[in-house]
Amino acid sequence: MKKQKNFVFKCSHCGREEPKWLGRCPECGEWNTLEETSVTGRTGQTGNAKDRGIPQSVPLSSVDPLEGSRISSNIRELDRVLGGGILKHSAILVGGEPGIGKSTLLLQAAAAADTKGRILYVSGEESAGQIRMRADRLGIKEQGEKIEILCSPCLEEIQTVMESTKPAIIMIDSAQTLYSLDAGITPGLLTQMKYCVWELITWVKEHDSSLFVTAHVTKDGQISGPKSLEHMVDTVLYFEESDRAAGPGGIDCRFLRAVKNRFGSIDETGIFTMGEKGLSVVEDPSLLFLVRREGELPPGVVTAAVAEGSRTLLVEIQALTVPAKGSISRVFSDRIDQARVSRVAAAIEKHLGLRLSDQDLYINVAGGIRISDVGVELAMAAALYSARTGIPCPAKTAIAGELSLTGEVRPLRRLPGRVKTAKGLGFTSFLGPLPEGAELGSESGYTPVKNIKSAIEALSKPM
Ligand code: TYD
Ligand code: MG
Repeated sequence: MKKQKNFVFKCSHCGREEPKWLGRCPECGEWNTLEETSVTGRTGQTGNAKDRGIPQSVPLSSVDPLEGSRISSNIRELDRVLGGGILKHSAILVGGEPGIGKSTLLLQAAAAADTKGRILYVSGEESAGQIRMRADRLGIKEQGEKIEILCSPCLEEIQTVMESTKPAIIMIDSAQTLYSLDAGITPGLLTQMKYCVWELITWVKEHDSSLFVTAHVTKDGQISGPKSLEHMVDTVLYFEESDRAAGPGGIDCRFLRAVKNRFGSIDETGIFTMGEKGLSVVEDPSLLFLVRREGELPPGVVTAAVAEGSRTLLVEIQALTVPAKGSISRVFSDRIDQARVSRVAAAIEKHLGLRLSDQDLYINVAGGIRISDVGVELAMAAALYSARTGIPCPAKTAIAGELSLTGEVRPLRRLPGRVKTAKGLGFTSFLGPLPEGAELGSESGYTPVKNIKSAIEALSKPM
C-alpha cells in the first residue's frame, strides 16, 4: 500500500499550500518561499521549528512564575489546605465518601471565590433545580450570578460551554459520571474517566482557569477510580468524617486533607462542621479535640499538644490495654499509625520494664482527627503507661515530645508555640523535651524531661 503523504509545501510569505515543491509561489509570486510542512503540524523536514510544531525549550529565567496568581476561595480552611488559595492553571481533585460534602464544598467555594470571572459548575449527578435548592439552602444569593450551571456529563458538551463562557474556575461533579463520545462506547469506564479528566486538565493549563473535580471513594476502600487520577492532577484533597461516636461533644467534624500538593504543604488539615447552612469553618479548633471533664482524668487518658500543619491542637489521646487472646498482641489504632504505636509500646517495655507485649493495645484520638506529628509519641507513651498501670495522669498537664528507640525524649519543632497554646487553654503544666537554648526560660509550669523514665516520674508527682 502506498504510504500516505503527510506533508505539504507551504509558502512562508503568504501561507499558500501546494502538494509539490515549486520555485515560485503561485499566490504571491515570491521566489523560494515554499517549505515542506507537516499536514498535522507535527513533523516535517524543513521550515522553522515553530511552524512545524517542534517542541522548544525555554530558559527557566524567562518563565513566568505561577506564584502570586492564586484566587482565594474565601473559605479559610480550603485555602489553608490548598496552600494559600486556588492556583491558576491548576487541577484539584476532591475525593471522599458519598455524602461527606464534596458537592456542598464546591458550590460554597464557587459562590465565595474571589474572582470576577465566571464559574462553570458542571454536574452529572444532580439537576439544575436540585443545585438551585442546595444553593438556596446555603444562602447563595447575588453571588450566584457568576455561577453557570451545566448538567451534562458529556465531555464534548462541557468543552463547548467552556469555550463559550471561558470560566475562571471549572467545577466537575463528579469524575465518575464523565464520558466522552471520542473515548469509546461505554460510559463509566476508567479509561473514559481518565481521558475526560485529562482533556479538562489540558484545557485549564492552556487557559486562564482552574479545575476542581470531585470523585467518590466508597466506604469499603474501593478507591481505584480516584487513585488513578491522582498522578494527573496537581492537588489531591480527601474529605473525611470524624468518628462521630468519639467526637467531642458529638460535634460532627469533617477533615479536608491534602495527600498531594504540587504547590503547597500536605501537612495542613482543613476542619469543617456540617450544619443547616452547609459547611462552616471552626473558628478555634485548638480546643475541639478535648473532652470536657470534671476532676481527675480516667486512667489511659492524656492531653497531647500536637502540631497539625501550621497550627497547634490540644488533643485527647485515649489508650486501653487488655490481655491478648492467644499469644499474639495486636494494635488497634486508626488515627495514629499502628507501627508508631508498636514502637512506643516497645520503648515502654524496654525502658520502663512494663510488659505490654502480652496485651492488645487500643489507641484512640478524641474527635477522630488523624495525627501524624511525631510530637504525639510521649503523650501516647504516657497514655499507654497509665492505661496499663491504672494510674491516672494529671488533668491540667499537656504533653509533647518525640521518643527515640533508646527511650530519650528528642527536641521538638515549634515547642514554644505548643506551650503557649496549652497555657492559653488553661493547662497549668506542660511536659516536654529539654528546651533548646533559652526558648522556654521564662515559662512557669514547664517540666523538661530527658527520657521516658523521667517523664513517668514527673507525671506521678503532683503537678
Ligand atoms: P453532599 O455535598 O451532596 O455530599 P457529596 O457530594 O460528598 O456526596 O452532601 C453532604 C451531606 O450534607 C448530605 O447528606 C446533606 C448534608 N447537608 C447538610 O447537612 N447541610 C447542608 O446545608 C447541605 C447542603 C447538605
Ligand atoms: Mg455530590
